[in-house]
Amino acid sequence: MNQQLLLIPLTLISLIVISVDGFRFFHHGRVHGGNLQLHIDPELREAPKNFTRWFNQSLDHFDVGNLAIWQQRYYVNDEFFDQENRNVAFLMIGGEGEATDVWMTNGAWVDYANQSKALMFQLEHRFYGQSHPTEDLSVENLKYLTSEQALADLATFVDAMNDEYKLSSEVKWIAFGGSYPGSLAAWARLKYPHLIHGSVSTSGPLLAIPDFQDYYQVVSDDLRNIDEDCYTAVKVGTAQIDLLLQHKVGQRTLTSLFELCNPLEESIDNDDDISNFYESLAGNFAGIAQYNKDNRLSTQGTLLGNITLDTVCNIMANISIGKEVARLAAFNSLMLKASNQSCFDFKYNSMIEGMKNVSWEASASEGGRQWTFQTCNEFGFYQTSDKKPQIFGNKFPLEFSIKQCVDLFGSKFDSEYLDYATRRTNTMYGAYDIEVSNVVFVHGSVDPWHALGITSTLNQNAPAIFIKGTAHCANMYPPTEDDLPQLKAARVQIGQLIQSWLDL
Ligand SMILES: *[C@@H]1O[C@H](CO)[C@@H](O)[C@H](O)[C@H]1NC(C)=O
Ligand SMILES: *[C@@H]1O[C@H](CO)[C@@H](O)[C@H](O)[C@H]1NC(C)=O
Ligand SMILES: *[C@@H]1O[C@H](CO)[C@@H](O)[C@H](O)[C@H]1NC(C)=O
Ligand SMILES: *[C@@H]1O[C@H](CO)[C@@H](O)[C@H](O)[C@H]1NC(C)=O
Ligand SMILES: *[C@@H]1O[C@H](CO)[C@@H](O)[C@H](O)[C@H]1NC(C)=O
Ligand SMILES: *[C@@H]1O[C@H](CO)[C@@H](O)[C@H](O)[C@H]1NC(C)=O
Ligand SMILES: *[C@@H]1O[C@H](CO)[C@@H](O)[C@H](O)[C@H]1NC(C)=O
Repeated sequence: MNQQLLLIPLTLISLIVISVDGFRFFHHGRVHGGNLQLHIDPELREAPKNFTRWFNQSLDHFDVGNLAIWQQRYYVNDEFFDQENRNVAFLMIGGEGEATDVWMTNGAWVDYANQSKALMFQLEHRFYGQSHPTEDLSVENLKYLTSEQALADLATFVDAMNDEYKLSSEVKWIAFGGSYPGSLAAWARLKYPHLIHGSVSTSGPLLAIPDFQDYYQVVSDDLRNIDEDCYTAVKVGTAQIDLLLQHKVGQRTLTSLFELCNPLEESIDNDDDISNFYESLAGNFAGIAQYNKDNRLSTQGTLLGNITLDTVCNIMANISIGKEVARLAAFNSLMLKASNQSCFDFKYNSMIEGMKNVSWEASASEGGRQWTFQTCNEFGFYQTSDKKPQIFGNKFPLEFSIKQCVDLFGSKFDSEYLDYATRRTNTMYGAYDIEVSNVVFVHGSVDPWHALGITSTLNQNAPAIFIKGTAHCANMYPPTEDDLPQLKAARVQIGQLIQSWLDL
């Protein structure tokens, strides 16, 4: 792991953690990570009752004659619902991880639901958590895992719930989502405006792109904003690794410093292992930057929850640890400890073999396999080392990510396919030219994902809120007194926008 932290990290965080709805932005190939997560914490409100329900969902919305159905999990909470007027419903969109009912009683949207007397729903995304449309995750079956099918799931779900809960013919549905579900929230309003009246789209990438090289640009900027010396120390430390890799003694030093599970000497001719090593090291920084000081309850009180960009930069600036490479190693050791890893597994094949398992029982089915498929088939979003200048080395180029697509899903998923697939996605949804109303795009400046989202706009009907100093999905977590004033203001502004849409 180590790697994991990456994008998703959150997961990593994990075992005890309950990931909230999706949101895991798995880094390509990384089984963990994620995005929005909550953890069972005594401060969280417990679900007063069983909110779980199952919905008979169509397997293929785009083949009219195909009547196959499967059971999709959802949660419903009516504690704030105006039983008399029955005219407001909220929908939390599930994403690239298992859904959890913790969200049904926690998070900023609960306050909005209370204010608007909304009936609250959360629909788990197809192919994640307990929502299994097919008997396994073979490539053949994964053809049903697309954002378009997921959006159509939302549409048929809303339509069915209008009947099932006898909602008013005037009912207004407001959708919520963070990370990939943030994209879905905006796209749901775009594609099904007669069903979704407004959307809060948090930290959602809108541009599909094979080479998301700006991701590490933002991570670098985050370090630089803490301290220029921190940025420089990472750059120098990486250059020292480049040199050490060139001879046997250096390789042995790295094996020991970075607590590698296998000797680096044995992998020196294996470019994939070396790429994986560099990418995992960079991923440590990404994981901290993406979630810096957020209110993820998942990590409160844990060592990982204590690690912020300030912690990282304190290590990188501490000359008594030794040379820059030793400081990188010290940070790496801290991350291993925080994620309970006894050593740093950088072997490419062990990662790929685990993710090839198509069983729902395998750990790859926690989301790593599915999300990687979605990136290979629709979005790209690969966080590469292609941007120059680059402080994390240049050993994990776009080709390395595409190789993972091919190794996992077959030769069809090559570079040409990815270009076609991402272009198609942008054509279907409009990328930054998306034309919507009653949508608010919310991003945090520290979160690398803001680089693929709308952070400013002239469209009065679809405003953007760009929160200086906050990380991924910060506005969705339960408010705390320590929140930055601009984060508190953003939550208030979102509440006012929702109210204004409901008043329309
Ligand atoms: C909650 O209800 C769902 C649907 O009725 C059921 O499948 C599930 O087993 C219940 N969970 C518990 C813990 O009772
Ligand atoms: C869902 O599908 C199952 C199996 O076809 C069927 O038995 C059940 O009645 C359906 N439930 C609803 C609410 O339509
Ligand atoms: C709902 O709002 C009311 C009125 O502001 C407040 O008293 C109550 O504590 C809120 N409930 C929850 C669960 O937040
Ligand atoms: C996290 O930091 C707090 C405050 O500095 C400290 O009391 C606590 O022991 C730390 N927790 C872990 C698990 O390191
Ligand atoms: C710097 O590192 C040394 C050696 O690991 C440690 O004893 C010291 O507490 C660190 N200093 C700071 C300011 O973190
Ligand atoms: C790591 O292991 C310890 C002790 O087994 C456990 O208390 C802790 O929750 C684990 N942390 C993570 C992130 O899994
Ligand atoms: C897939 O994972 C399951 C559950 O861990 C395991 O039982 C099975 O042997 C694995 N299959 C392969 C082909 O590795």
